Amino acid sequence: MSEDNKNWAERSGKVFMGTYARYPAAMVKGEGCTLTDADGRKYLDCLAGIAVCSLGHCHPAVTEAICKQANELVHVSNLYYTKPQTELAELLTEHSFADQVFMANSGAEANEAAIKLARICAGPERYGIISLAGSFHGRTLATVAATGQPKLQEGFEPMPEGFSHAPFGNLNVLEALICDQTCAIMCEPIQGEGGVRPLDVEYLQAVAKICRDHNLLLIFDEIQTGLGRTGTLFAYEQLGIVPDIMTVAKALGNGMPIGAALTRKEIAASFVPGTHGSTFGGNPVACAAAVATMKIMLADGFLNDVQEKGKYLQAGLEDIAAKFPEIASGARGMGLIRGLVLTDAGIEQGADMVKKLFDKGFLINFAGNAVLRFLPPLIITKEEIDQLLSAIAEMLSEL
Ligand SMILES: Cc1ncc(COP(=O)(O)O)c(C=O)c1O
Repeated sequence: MSEDNKNWAERSGKVFMGTYARYPAAMVKGEGCTLTDADGRKYLDCLAGIAVCSLGHCHPAVTEAICKQANELVHVSNLYYTKPQTELAELLTEHSFADQVFMANSGAEANEAAIKLARICAGPERYGIISLAGSFHGRTLATVAATGQPKLQEGFEPMPEGFSHAPFGNLNVLEALICDQTCAIMCEPIQGEGGVRPLDVEYLQAVAKICRDHNLLLIFDEIQTGLGRTGTLFAYEQLGIVPDIMTVAKALGNGMPIGAALTRKEIAASFVPGTHGSTFGGNPVACAAAVATMKIMLADGFLNDVQEKGKYLQAGLEDIAAKFPEIASGARGMGLIRGLVLTDAGIEQGADMVKKLFDKGFLINFAGNAVLRFLPPLIITKEEIDQLLSAIAEMLSEL
């Protein structure tokens, strides 16, 4: 039997539940920003596994850390301490506002931990979490209830109790939703899945003040924006506010599954033995990968470089929007999370544009029914950004 894309697609189609609409490629190798499929075609990966492989595919230092740890110890459960877990928690707390960490395996699980922590910390009568319309917080029942996109909840009702959503950017409605039961406000600094929609700094600062005034916890979901994506280790550093709880995942392990909820000591004190846990959370191999990943991101110049390349990509996308005003109205984002904002006419062709770029060997996606989204590995070069920009311009001129 041949081992080409078609063969893998046919075999997968028979044995997988249909949760994903996949492109006709089975990826077999990754190196830097390049992926190779089973037919030998190469792609410039400008999605990085959806903001995961920020150091590029198979970064040698991460691969080495994974192999070394896999040779020493793969799993022991959280009944015992392990070296990589402790080292990772130290790195996360040394480089953020937080004192303590809970480790999980994914973004949704990190958010579940944050939601449970906010509730247990607030006490029995206060369980309400307000999040924002258009947000995305995960696919488990609690995190899909927190997600402000009704289409993702349809068919799975009843949703767990205690979640409400404020319209994007509207402070009055947000404040009106607060009641005696409310314990926290949860938001992403930039709505990634919602279409790379940044929240105004003034708005976020006002949300932080509302939290202080009403004695609510501010939960920042930095699962997509965290770990260097916006040009600082965490996006909150650029916003003049400090959350009470922050969640990270995605890029933390550069491809190894890991997530974490971070907070201050006083809040963390509500989690005592037996309140929360995870069999695999903080797995030694995933943590070893995360330690290697964080050390590279924290090295001199890395984050400045992300900011510079982010500006370069933004300028290039703005040029494209100016050249194709009937399709695109501008560009937005921070660092290397960027969106080319489509006009109504552009939105109709959004999915098709992604397919056309795929055919040209460039991987991006269409997010929030609003933008072409770019989440390249943070190690992408300006030359590779130029290749991407040329491909977009060529694709748009062929529409
Ligand atoms: C902001 C945000 N929160 C949570 C999640 C869920 O993460 P995971 O898919 O690892 O559960 C995502 C995934 O896209 C995300 O972007």
